[in-house]
Amino acid sequence: MSAGRGWSLRTARPDDVGQVSALLERSYLPLWAGHYEAALLDAVAPLVTRANPRLLASGTFFVAMSDCGIAVGCGGWTHEAPGTGVLEDGIGHIRHFATDADWLRLGIGGAIIRRCIAEAKVEGLTTLMADSARGAELFYAAFGFQPLGPSAPMIGDTILPGTMMRLAL
Ligand SMILES: CC(C)(COP(=O)(O)OP(=O)(O)OC[C@H]1O[C@@H](n2cnc3c(N)ncnc32)[C@H](O)[C@@H]1OP(=O)(O)O)[C@@H](O)C(=O)NCCC(=O)NCCS
Repeated sequence: MSAGRGWSLRTARPDDVGQVSALLERSYLPLWAGHYEAALLDAVAPLVTRANPRLLASGTFFVAMSDCGIAVGCGGWTHEAPGTGVLEDGIGHIRHFATDADWLRLGIGGAIIRRCIAEAKVEGLTTLMADSARGAELFYAAFGFQPLGPSAPMIGDTILPGTMMRLAL
C-alpha cells in the first residue's frame, strides 16, 4: 500500500464509507496504542473505526487518496460540535483527522487542516476547536492551535481522554 508516495486531496463522498472506515482502522488503532490502554482501545475501536456518513456527505470533509486509489488520510470541519450537535456563532470544529500509520509525516494531515482553516475563514468563523486525541497535540500545535485543558469526550460509554485545543482565526 505504501510503495508509492503520491497522493491527492479531494472532498469526501458518501460512497467513501468503506475506504474511510478502513483508513480509520489503519490509523487510530496502531497510533493510539502508544497512548491509551489496550482495554480502553478495545472498547472504543468498533465505534471510532466507523466512518461518519454525515461527515462524508458534508462537503467539508476531505480524503487524501494515494495514486493507487487507497484512502491514506482524512479529516474535515463542521459548524456542529461533535457529539452534541450544538451550533455556536463563529465556532467550527475539527473532525476525524487520521493519516494511515504507513503514511505519516508526508504532509497529508497538514494539507487537510490548512484546507479546513482556509474554508473556516471564508465562512467567517473566528475560532476552530479541536478535541485532540493523545499524541495528536503537537500536530495541531504546529498549525497554531493552543491547548485549553483536558477533554473527556464520550465514545459510546467510554471516555477517551484528550486535550481541547483552540485556534483563533
Ligand atoms: C495527527 C495526524 C493526523 C498527523 O498526520 P500527518 O499526515 O502525519 O501530519 P503531517 O505530516 O501533515 O504533519 C504536519 C506537521 O505536524 C507536526 N506533527 C505531526 N505529527 C507529529 C508528531 N507525531 N509529533 C510531533 N509533531 C508532529 C509536525 O510539525 C509536522 O511537520 P513536519 O513533519 O514537517 O515536522 C496523524 O499522526 C494521525 O493520524 N494520528 C492518529 C490519529 C489521531 O490521533 N488523529 C487526531 C484525532 S483528534
